[in-house]
Amino acid sequence: MSEPSRHPFLHGLSKHRGAPPTVVVIFGASGDLTARKLIPAVYNLGHDNLLPADFYLVGFGRKAIPDEEFRTLAVQAIKEFSRRELSEAMWSRVAAHTTYVAGGYDELPAFERLAAHIAGIERQLGRAVQRLFYISTPPSVFAPIIRNLGASGLASSHLGTPLHAKVIIEKPFGKDLTSARELNATIRGVFEEHQVYRIDHYLGKETVQDLLVQRFANAIFEPLWNRNFIDSVQITVAEEVGVGSRGGYYEQSGCLRDMIQNHTMQLLALTAMEPPGSLAPEAIRDEKVKVLNAIQPLTIGPAGDVARAQYAAGMIGGKPVPGYLEEEGIEPDSGTETYAAMRLSINNWRWQGVPFYLRSGKCMARRASEIAINFRRPPGTLFAGETARFDLAANTLSFQIQPDEGLSLILNTKVPGLETRTQPVKMSFRYATTFGSNTAEAYERLVLDAMIGDGTLFIRGDEAEASWKLCTPVLDFWRSVGRAGMDSYPAGSWGPPSSDALLAKQSHVWRQP
Ligand code: BG6
Repeated sequence: MSEPSRHPFLHGLSKHRGAPPTVVVIFGASGDLTARKLIPAVYNLGHDNLLPADFYLVGFGRKAIPDEEFRTLAVQAIKEFSRRELSEAMWSRVAAHTTYVAGGYDELPAFERLAAHIAGIERQLGRAVQRLFYISTPPSVFAPIIRNLGASGLASSHLGTPLHAKVIIEKPFGKDLTSARELNATIRGVFEEHQVYRIDHYLGKETVQDLLVQRFANAIFEPLWNRNFIDSVQITVAEEVGVGSRGGYYEQSGCLRDMIQNHTMQLLALTAMEPPGSLAPEAIRDEKVKVLNAIQPLTIGPAGDVARAQYAAGMIGGKPVPGYLEEEGIEPDSGTETYAAMRLSINNWRWQGVPFYLRSGKCMARRASEIAINFRRPPGTLFAGETARFDLAANTLSFQIQPDEGLSLILNTKVPGLETRTQPVKMSFRYATTFGSNTAEAYERLVLDAMIGDGTLFIRGDEAEASWKLCTPVLDFWRSVGRAGMDSYPAGSWGPPSSDALLAKQSHVWRQP
């Protein structure tokens, strides 16, 4: 179990230097995520002197790759994707401990070879090392990998000793409630919950962690954080990119599975949960599960709580973009949504009657992720009537998750002059302006937290299931009706009309982030 004194909300990264000797094994070592995120994360942790002195990196994959070639791939990945320039001197220390093991994910002998490989590292080092297995493969092989980690003895938990084994599991964690439950059962057959780190990389983002600090370290927000003062909440995760070369994966996934079930639901949970009793990982995760379980089942079907759409051809950044159905690897009659929006009601004392609107989509007008808290309007007794003079907006507090990370508050202000006129203005705080812009990437924090045994920023098994419980009936319904009800939006726009209609019922409109 992680020690409360070490978790990230109490202490900063500087306290993390106590990670024990560790071997990180990446399954899916030649994959895209490894190159874009994992290797750069390891590099930047090394750069910041946050890796343990005895740190080993082992790539594992189906493809036979000599050690030297894997090291070259790692250097290329750092050059292309790291937030910092490659320092050969720094990386050479990690590279000297970087190796590769080839094998099939469903072949036990390959895992026995991996066990022998790690035993060799330990012999050379003269002591045992912690094993951190990072499963970054297609989800179809998650279960065989977990079972083989068990069968080969690699998963053994010697809690508190260097031999302790941990597993990080990438998303998607299942494709519906049944498969998530099955995956949890497979995991539980091999690992104990404290050994398991289910990733949602949004939790590693600085601004997402800051949401908790903003909510609970400032006295002004919490008294207003409820149905008496808040009218509605909007959570947007908009992407400018399309599916690109990931069409094969995306066709099986779609926006609800890819973004809503995990990233936006996590943002919702952190926004809506009750204050935890402490900042201990389990205290926070308990509150997240409670609020997820308090969300009412969705009304699905025409005029229900959910909208879906696909992007049609359009323009982004002055360039023409093809429609989803014209993209590579996409079925011409695909029923996969690239945009999803929903209206949620949380049935508890704090939020009853406050709609939470969630939306996410590819090929939207611009990349923007935010949480916007819309407050109730003031009574219109003083500045009512003359709308030309009294341009009044509802107060909105918005957390800009990315890009241009920050916090802003819309206030109504008097326009200077002898005549009394009002106008909404924006009060803003920007992280980059105050703290500089080169902050750690989500994966750096998450790999480090797993190394030191802190599960705060990872999804617990019951949390994943609570979120799937809500989303699965929607997916089942969509599957049953095929393309019926699929809306569309031009690439480069803010989404389809059916999504606006979700808000119109309560006279709300989507914000333009
Ligand atoms: C991933 C999704 O989880 O998150 C991708 O699979 C998406 O489709 C990505 O593009 C967005 O992450 P970020 O950090 O760029 O907002």
